[in-house]
Amino acid sequence: MATPDIYCESELNGRIAFAKALANQLQLQIVDNIAGREDVVLAVTDERLELRSCGKDAPGPVYVDLVGGSLGFSRTVNRYGQLFKAVGFKNQPEPPTIFDATAGLCHDAFLLAFQGCDVSAVERSPVLFAMIEDGLRRASDADPDLEAIIRDKLHIRCDDAFEVLTGLSESDRPDVVYLDPMFPHRTKSALVKKEMRVLRSIVGDDQDAADLLLIARTAARKRVVVKRMKHAPELAPDPMVCFRGKTTRFDVYAPAPLPSSR
Ligand SMILES: C[S@@+](CC[C@H](N)C(=O)[O-])C[C@H]1O[C@@H](n2cnc3c(N)ncnc32)[C@H](O)[C@@H]1O
Repeated sequence: MATPDIYCESELNGRIAFAKALANQLQLQIVDNIAGREDVVLAVTDERLELRSCGKDAPGPVYVDLVGGSLGFSRTVNRYGQLFKAVGFKNQPEPPTIFDATAGLCHDAFLLAFQGCDVSAVERSPVLFAMIEDGLRRASDADPDLEAIIRDKLHIRCDDAFEVLTGLSESDRPDVVYLDPMFPHRTKSALVKKEMRVLRSIVGDDQDAADLLLIARTAARKRVVVKRMKHAPELAPDPMVCFRGKTTRFDVYAPAPLPSSR
């Protein structure tokens, strides 16, 4: 996991103090100039936290946007139909409870909470988690309905899913464990979205994803859903069913049989 430097471009007193506190909390180096750099920094602007790629031809900033952008669009047109099918909404009296083990930019967790699921989520990168908290705060400030969903339906913390899933009590086991690990992808194809390239520079490749799936299968009551790029190999053989979208695929795995003591 890489540790980006932190850069405060805002001249507002409150933001400068925030940047210093964050640098201290995350043990990041604070810099006052990013001219001539070619790497990714965590930038504090007047209104948000963003991962900013520096240098010529750098892609735009990456930040958590739960209100507008592609997520806002997906929410209004329900473009995430395959995700909802994969977690098993169909013919259920109640929305399933979800544990999102790979929160990332919190998009999928938020969409599931928006659909009424009770979602617990973890992100192990402290930098990403700070960005999630920032995005949740902005969404809550922007819209009281989103604030209610974030307060009542989305429980997110900075932690490692291995630790959390292995320590779950019987009553805390979720219906569904959801995994969307980074996929080691070296090409610069348009399919590899800009966000994923920038995220990868901070969190790496999630090489332990197949082990996480094994643990997830012991924790889920009903199923484990793994999101993959459409043509990516399966994380483990023999999913029960796959739901295919335009660019992504959701592989659904059965829970592992329980040892008799559970
Ligand atoms: C591709 S991103 C997830 C994107 C997310 N589904 C979204 O909608 O924004 C994968 C994230 O999972 C996190 N991750 C991977 N393994 C993890 C683990 N064992 N515990 C917690 N977070 C993990 C990585 O740090 C990374 O931020």
